[in-house]
Amino acid sequence: MEIKKVCIVGASGKLGQYMVQHALDRGYEVIGVCREQSVEKLEKFKDRISIIPGATNDREVIERAVAGCEGVLTVLAPWGVNNYSSGTAQAVLDYAESGARLIFSCGWHIAKDGRDVYSTTFTTVLTIVGWVAKFFRFVDINDQVEACRRIFASDKLWTVVRGSDLEEGESQGLPLWCKHVGDPILKSNLTRRVDFALFMVEALVNDKLIHEAPAIVGCQTPSVLQFKRLIQST
Ligand SMILES: NC(=O)c1ccc[n+]([C@@H]2O[C@H](COP(=O)([O-])OP(=O)(O)OC[C@H]3O[C@@H](n4cnc5c(N)ncnc54)[C@H](OP(=O)(O)O)[C@@H]3O)[C@@H](O)[C@H]2O)c1
Repeated sequence: MEIKKVCIVGASGKLGQYMVQHALDRGYEVIGVCREQSVEKLEKFKDRISIIPGATNDREVIERAVAGCEGVLTVLAPWGVNNYSSGTAQAVLDYAESGARLIFSCGWHIAKDGRDVYSTTFTTVLTIVGWVAKFFRFVDINDQVEACRRIFASDKLWTVVRGSDLEEGESQGLPLWCKHVGDPILKSNLTRRVDFALFMVEALVNDKLIHEAPAIVGCQTPSVLQFKRLIQST
């Protein structure tokens, strides 16, 4: 299906705004969904995109926003303890056009097939951060896990992009990806946020990524450069 119109769910966040720019650069018509109080963050795009204000887990908002879109880019944010992330994912899965490409963002901590290998530090930090955040009721990482469980069980044309740690800065190009965390290529664990967004938008037209959960890393990071040198020397 040729991509002409895309919906960006969570368009006002940092990742969302980069995705809006990449989508406009490709000539796509863009529908952005964001919370009412965040509409002003999209001021610079206001003449070039349509904005539908509302909570991203509001099923009526999503039904309206994804109508007629060949692609939906969703920022899965584990905010609050009211199933925000899983509610958002479910609404997108339920209302997106059949045949539409659905791309979701999350982090390396999401595991699709149990074959990721995590360092002890990564697991410990995740457990502590997850526990503290849930205790103070502002983030529920388990709800993002539940969102992805539902996506993985769906027969829609999804891709779940698993981001490494992120940094700001100019684009370095399309990140590399691996099927599993623990692959030495990913060791640097760093991606520019603008390039995370680039990977999300490029995934719309990459059928090889359908039903994959690519773990990504910046293409100029030391672990990737080392991998490239190894390939050249063999
Ligand atoms: N941050 C990292 O280091 C990191 C690492 C790996 C992967 N990721 C993934 O990258 C994606 C983007 O994350 P990000 O950290 O870079 O942040 P981000 O792009 O700024 O996105 C945060 C999103 O959460 C929304 N949000 C903020 N507060 C909220 C609230 N109280 N209730 C409901 N929604 C709220 C924001 O909407 P508003 O504009 O309305 O506030 C925005 O859409 C996520 O899927 C995340 O899992 C992040």
